[in-house]
Amino acid sequence: MNLSWLPPFRFLSLFALNLGFVLSVSAQTVLPVETQNNAMVLQVDAKKNLSMIYLGRKLEHSQEYTSIASQYKQSADYTGLLNSAYTPSGSRNLVEPAITVTHADGNNSLDLRYIRSSLKKLDEQVSLLTVVLKDKVYNFEVTLYYKSYFKEDVIEQWCTIRQQEKGNVTLHKFASANLHLRGGSYWLNQYHGDWAKEMQPEESRLTHGIKTLDSKLGTRANLFQPSVFMVSLNKPATEDEGEVLFGGLEWSGNFRTDLEIDNQDNLRIISGINNYASAYTLKPGEELRTPAFLYTLSTQGKGKASRNLQQWARNYKLLDGKGTRLTLLNNWEATYFDFNENKLAGLLKDTKKLGVDLFLLDDGWFGNKYPRNGDVAGLGDWQENKKKLPNGITSLVKEARENGVKFGIWIEPEMVNPKSELYDKHPDWVVKQPERDEYYFRNQLVLDLTNPKVQDFVFGIVDGLFTKNPELAYIKWDCNAVIYNAHSATLKDQSHFYVDYVQGLYKVLQRIRAKYPTVPMMLCSGGGGRIDYGALQYFTEFWPSDNTDPLERIFMQWEYSYFYPAIASSNHVTDWGKQPIKFRTDVAMMGKLGFDIVVSHLPESDLKFCQEAIQQYNAVKSIIWQGDQYRLANPRESVVASMLYLTEDKSTGVIFNYLVNYRYDENSKQPVLLKGLDAAKQYKITEINLYPGTKSTIDGAKQYTGDFLMKIGFNPDVNASRTSVVLKLEEVK
Ligand code: DGJ
Repeated sequence: MNLSWLPPFRFLSLFALNLGFVLSVSAQTVLPVETQNNAMVLQVDAKKNLSMIYLGRKLEHSQEYTSIASQYKQSADYTGLLNSAYTPSGSRNLVEPAITVTHADGNNSLDLRYIRSSLKKLDEQVSLLTVVLKDKVYNFEVTLYYKSYFKEDVIEQWCTIRQQEKGNVTLHKFASANLHLRGGSYWLNQYHGDWAKEMQPEESRLTHGIKTLDSKLGTRANLFQPSVFMVSLNKPATEDEGEVLFGGLEWSGNFRTDLEIDNQDNLRIISGINNYASAYTLKPGEELRTPAFLYTLSTQGKGKASRNLQQWARNYKLLDGKGTRLTLLNNWEATYFDFNENKLAGLLKDTKKLGVDLFLLDDGWFGNKYPRNGDVAGLGDWQENKKKLPNGITSLVKEARENGVKFGIWIEPEMVNPKSELYDKHPDWVVKQPERDEYYFRNQLVLDLTNPKVQDFVFGIVDGLFTKNPELAYIKWDCNAVIYNAHSATLKDQSHFYVDYVQGLYKVLQRIRAKYPTVPMMLCSGGGGRIDYGALQYFTEFWPSDNTDPLERIFMQWEYSYFYPAIASSNHVTDWGKQPIKFRTDVAMMGKLGFDIVVSHLPESDLKFCQEAIQQYNAVKSIIWQGDQYRLANPRESVVASMLYLTEDKSTGVIFNYLVNYRYDENSKQPVLLKGLDAAKQYKITEINLYPGTKSTIDGAKQYTGDFLMKIGFNPDVNASRTSVVLKLEEVK
């Protein structure tokens, strides 16, 4: 039976008050949201306060959820709000609020009480619990939504805020989610980064007070910090052990997550759009819908949590998550801005020769008055540069077809160089402060997507490309600048700017998807500056980083994989790093494979290797894209990194193994323990992706039980002369 939600139940409860022992009887409503393994339980008390009374492993008997709190002997709450399901401020609250308002009459207090709840079963696996809260004094309402995905143990939580007062109400804070967790200690794994240094993990024990993860960058919002994080309870979770919550906000702009250990030693997590410079005014009858905060809880370590999220993303969120993807040759690092029709004709032939599906033309194809021959000019002028491409994109698309490959193109439609016809014509479309000096990020400025005319323009860029070139098969959507001098020439309420920008972007993406529902699009932001599930519902894949050094990528892709499935990770073979082509290709195969190299410069045997590797990849890519991912050896803890992708029926897998420490005589001294296999099945393991002329040291004829491979393990024989080893695991029947 799918227990993704149980009906609210009422029961009699006993209260012990401090005046001796007084029994008080009151009716309570309990709203448990249960998924395959977990429960998130809300409770309405006699005074109609809504609290989160439990978030953890599900109990056999749901009536017992209400007995949990009494087993904790903690200090006083004082407010009755510490575990509020959506903490209002300005009344009796003493901690970080989820919502802060100024009412139409100037009053700053809010006290939200339960009005009603309802459940919709959206399908066999997915349910939506809706809880309406209202202030007693003011005509102000918040509706909380909890969308639960039974099989994946995932919950998406968001709310709508609505007012019917006599004038405007200002929201100073408007979080998406407010969680409450009980544990002896809490360990936060967060991420920081910069260009070419995305997804650097950092783990620390949370102390009393508030730890904030946030972004104020507007666009390219994840450049210094993404919103995804992990919190382990009681001790840091390992790959396969421990209780850990993974969370993240589905929002491509400023976010803020506060993790507060309160005076009762419990952890409150409040996450939503960053309220920094973003007071939001609601007119009577208006509604604000917050983005969803997404979380999953695992009691079997990080590995399980990551598989939950990956499955959820493929099943429900990532565009075409269950579909297929195109391998490609990109020209960015092969040519940078220096190309013309002749050069591209050669690259189109190389695309075919290499054996990938598509050629992707990167930055530099546009701009005439201000040609895009570098990153200082031309951005915004989306007409083919007549000198470089006298016959336009149309002829390139045709030529690609004649070569038997598809054609894709790079755009950065949200941005403008001051040296551009667009800027000359529409200075009022640019985000800048009217009276202040312009300040640039990569010599460019951001277009004002809060302005519907700019939204039309950005939609028009994509629509125009497809209208002129219906065979266009792929878009790489870049976004290289952050927002400085946040100001719109047309927006009435400037403090809506950051929120309305992202909503403007989503409006454009929705229009694009309504007209072009399936065309693959890569989400890129000067590397991985904008990767989140708010955007990924419109994109088929993302660009993790401009850093394609394969050694670095082993670490980076490892961290991304906790939150995002391999099918979404665009990994390109480039000339970054010192590793041989095999190592570079093997690492890129752990996701969606692409190349960004000068094919004609490859030595003959390297080219042969690449051609064969692409064929091997085509044979195993569905396992990598749709399989379950098991992290076997952590590069941060071992000299060997090892990752397994395994089909759901546990019959076939691919294992990638690398030497990540090049000190003298380092090698895979011990076998690598496999995971997730069927103990009773017989398997054979063969090496694939061999460099031409080399022989494998692996005996592919030998058979092992799943039991053996999971208890004793398998040695991939990684060493200084075999720094990268790809193995195929197959059931023998
Ligand atoms: C930044 C991207 O991350 C690169 O891959 C490339 O497309 C450049 N922009 C082009 O300007």
